[in-house]
Amino acid sequence: MKLPNYIALLAGALVMGGNLHSAVAADLSQTEERFVYCTVCHGSNLKGNEDTGAPRLSHLPEWYLLNQLNAFRHGWRGVHMQDEGGIEMRPMAEALSEDELKKVLAFVGSKASDIPKATFSADLAHGKQLFAACAACHGASAQGNQALNAPPLAGSSDWYLKRQLMHFKQGLRGDDGADMNGNTMRASAALLADEQAVDDVVAYIQSLN
Ligand code: HEC
Ligand code: HEC
Repeated sequence: MKLPNYIALLAGALVMGGNLHSAVAADLSQTEERFVYCTVCHGSNLKGNEDTGAPRLSHLPEWYLLNQLNAFRHGWRGVHMQDEGGIEMRPMAEALSEDELKKVLAFVGSKASDIPKATFSADLAHGKQLFAACAACHGASAQGNQALNAPPLAGSSDWYLKRQLMHFKQGLRGDDGADMNGNTMRASAALLADEQAVDDVVAYIQSLN
């Protein structure tokens, strides 16, 4: 009596396991279909695309992706008319439901892409000096620090990092009073004297890859 019961149970578990497996697979492929449009701007496997100005996403941790999607949704980021990239991205973030917001993080997390190559060179020695101040929050290898909400910078395209630093300096990002992380970073960007200093520090970050 016991053995057949056991077999029936096991068979049941296998069938359930099978169903569960295909349910998860179906869910993932639905997620893939639903968010494939992100790659239209952000490139295949979310590797970034300089032509559309959409950065690499595949290396970014969930907590930072969520912070930024919320920054766009709160209207902290992508609201200045001169911030062309942000203006394109904000409606994409706004269109996500709460459920989709969770799912899109899994979608981004499922992608892998190569580290982007340098697109410009600058004074690395000067960049290294400047980066000492950044390392306090972003980490010595620019790996990021969740406790401080400071994202990884290593692995992001140099052209994108440069644009963000210029935007922080110009007040196109991080100037909303409620955007505490943006405010923090804006104050740090102000310490970079000019565009040359931005180029130097970004070239140094790129060299850490
Ligand atoms: C129409 C083009 C377009 C589409 C579609 C698009 N994005 Fe973007 N996204 C951009 C641009 C451009 C930027 C850079 C904004 C800037 O320069 O501040 C960006 C920035 C981002 C950022 C900020 C990254 C960072 O390092 O701070 C995240 C996160 C993001 N997008 C996620 C997504 C996700 C997820 C999707 C799909 C649901 C998506 N995007 C669809 C154009 C797009
Ligand atoms: C006091 C802590 C702190 C310091 C110091 C700091 N940052 Fe940041 N940085 C942050 C935080 C927090 C964010 C996230 C801002 C947000 O959520 O919009 C950030 C965001 C950034 C971004 C945007 C990344 C992206 O994916 O869009 C860049 C680029 C950046 N920092 C570069 C630097 C550089 C270069 C320095 C040194 C000159 C520096 N940071 C110093 C805290 C800091």
